[in-house]
Amino acid sequence: MPEVSDAVRRDLKTVVGAAGIFTDPADLEAHLVDERRAFRGVAPVLLKPASTDEVVAIVQICADAGVGIVPQGGRTGLCGGTVPVTGGGEVLVSLERLRRIRELDAQGFTMTCEAGCILQTLQHEAESADRLFPLSLAAEGSCTIGGNLSTNAGGINVLRYGMARSLTLGLEVVLPDGTLWDDLGALRKDNRGYDLKQLFIGAEGTLGIITAATMELFPRPRDVDTAFLAVADPEAALQLFAVAREVAADMMVAFELNDRNALDMVFQHMDGVRDPFPTRYSWYVLLELTAGVDGHARAAGEQILAAAFQRGLVLDGVRADSLAHRAGLWRLRETVTEAQKHEGRSLKHDISVPVVAVPQFIDEATAAVRRGWPGYRVLAFGHVGDGNIHFNVFGPPGNDGEQLFAESEAIEDAVFAIADRMQGSFSAEHGIGQLKRRALRQYAPAGSLEMMKALKRTLDPQGIMNPGKVV
Ligand code: FAD
Ligand code: MLT
Ligand code: ZN
Repeated sequence: MPEVSDAVRRDLKTVVGAAGIFTDPADLEAHLVDERRAFRGVAPVLLKPASTDEVVAIVQICADAGVGIVPQGGRTGLCGGTVPVTGGGEVLVSLERLRRIRELDAQGFTMTCEAGCILQTLQHEAESADRLFPLSLAAEGSCTIGGNLSTNAGGINVLRYGMARSLTLGLEVVLPDGTLWDDLGALRKDNRGYDLKQLFIGAEGTLGIITAATMELFPRPRDVDTAFLAVADPEAALQLFAVAREVAADMMVAFELNDRNALDMVFQHMDGVRDPFPTRYSWYVLLELTAGVDGHARAAGEQILAAAFQRGLVLDGVRADSLAHRAGLWRLRETVTEAQKHEGRSLKHDISVPVVAVPQFIDEATAAVRRGWPGYRVLAFGHVGDGNIHFNVFGPPGNDGEQLFAESEAIEDAVFAIADRMQGSFSAEHGIGQLKRRALRQYAPAGSLEMMKALKRTLDPQGIMNPGKVV
């Protein structure tokens, strides 16, 4: 990538004005590292456009000069996708000032919002219109809808509502040559050829910049039942999942798993948490049901628990009896990521396997780590109802991470090979960024990488959009 010349900087400043361009290292600092502080890059300029038109003009200038562009949302991504890699040939483009909700159509159950809208704001806006925007993840207070779409985020409600992709009705994208592609719209059905918006969802900014999206809304649930349950092992969790699914069907929105190590880290590092049980157990499930009719979720919850206790699938359990109680139970699951950061550096493996293979995957991967790296600690938690396990590995207590990182490729290979053998994925929801490119080369289905590269060449022949990421 060529350096960002003075002439390009001048042109960019003309587009965004003094309020939209930053070159002081102090202003750029937070934008040059990733959430986990695993990657750091350099870039001479940070731009904060205030409108789609400004994004168009920025991309046109960069395309003419062959300058790279790194789109940034809330910078909560876990694969280093927002960190520049070329040593100074890219500008950072933060979408944070594109925060307008252009339209909320309660009757049509849709919302058109700009890319920089914070996910939690969108949830609240939907709620104030008596609607539900169901995308939900622990980073929702800082991540943006543009980032959610660019990573095809999953989170805790995928079981019932799908990933970001399935909530998307339309997109507005600035293509790598600066053309604006406007495919916003509220159509539930549209078979006019290829569904092109899908290309940009999960592309991690490598094919264009998403500037706005039309998202689907849902009826707001009238009844919620949340239970935190102790189970003997992942096999019992899987059997419980089947019982819950049979009874609750579409009412089941979340089925999450924590191992005891995850819970111990939460107790050690987070405030406002307490063990709901007097006894230590090895595994826990957080089960949530919602219903449109008052009482239906609670009735289903009771039925599930009765059946589960009768079959010996649950060892102990609590059900939330207030909103505050519910929030406290969710905190045990949602703060695991934050607690891990306090514990020290770790290797994160975001695995998915067919749901029925989850117990076998956890068993085999844990055994492989114990065999190969005695003393290393495993943390397994995640969206087990989707077959998605966050299988994380820590060094022995007190280890500063150096040795862990020296072993990272070997540990990754051991874990990913097991998932691959089970027809699984090494990246269920976090994407590729710069962290998982080696794995993509190794474990992408045959022919996929070539097709991805062909798409990239077609849409971005100069390779200016988020260079060094994904392909
Ligand atoms: P960023 O991190 O800013 O960007 C992510 C990628 O998208 C980068 O490659 C960036 O270049 C690109 N990008 C950003 N905005 C745009 C745009 N407008 N146009 C084009 N490209 C763009 N992820 C899950 O899937 N499920 C979870 O449950 C989950 N939980 C998390 C919990 C915590 C505590 C944390 C820290 C992260 C979690 N994540 C999870 C990961 C992360 O929050 C998501 O990937 C989120 O969707 C990223 O949004 P963002 O706005 O922060 O994007
Ligand atoms: C989660 O489910 O909490 C996230 O995907 C974050 C993580 O894996 O740490
Ligand atoms: Zn997750």
